[in-house]
Amino acid sequence: MPFPFSQNIKIGDKEFSLMIDPIRVQEGIARLAQEISQDYADKEPVLLIVLNGAFRFGADLLRYMQFPLEISFVRLKSYKGTQQSGDLEETMDLDIDLKDRHVLLIEDIIDTGDTINYLRQKIRARQPASLAEATLLLKPSPQLPEGPVRYPVFEIDDKFVVGYGLDYNQKGRELSGIYVLIP
Ligand code: IMP
Ligand code: MG
Repeated sequence: MPFPFSQNIKIGDKEFSLMIDPIRVQEGIARLAQEISQDYADKEPVLLIVLNGAFRFGADLLRYMQFPLEISFVRLKSYKGTQQSGDLEETMDLDIDLKDRHVLLIEDIIDTGDTINYLRQKIRARQPASLAEATLLLKPSPQLPEGPVRYPVFEIDDKFVVGYGLDYNQKGRELSGIYVLIP
């Protein structure tokens, strides 16, 4: 079934144009879910979905991942408007024992890498059997001292984007495609 979508949208004072249409988004997620299923089907992993942005990516990934796993959530915030505010603020703690578990972090987008680096440290302290990350979008130059992200769906330019869970001042999360800010 085709999704209804616009080429250009306005959110507040900003204009955005379509960068990845909803069908390509779904195809990319289905492909990644297949790869993850092959790697994790016998591992009963813990999927840690990073709220708020990754709620939709996480939910759609799960449609294609029909094998035993557990799901939990962690909530962090680092953006205000189109600029990062610097400090990461943790507003929900992990409520699940990660020791000796295979942990897969689910992120919406990786930009500077700060969020992933912070979460990697926090999770490693709990001694998981393994840790890897899936992200819908990967910007060009995150600083990741512990190594690259294993499961990116789309690599994009260093531009501000909204849609598919990603917001501009809490708006635009409902969009089924990815939209890029028109300067
Ligand atoms: P990082 O810590 O710089 O890697 O940024 C990660 C977080 O910043 C993501 O989980 C998003 O919530 C947010 N973010 C980064 N780039 C964008 C963007 O282009 N649009 C909306 N949010 C973004
Ligand atoms: Mg996020």
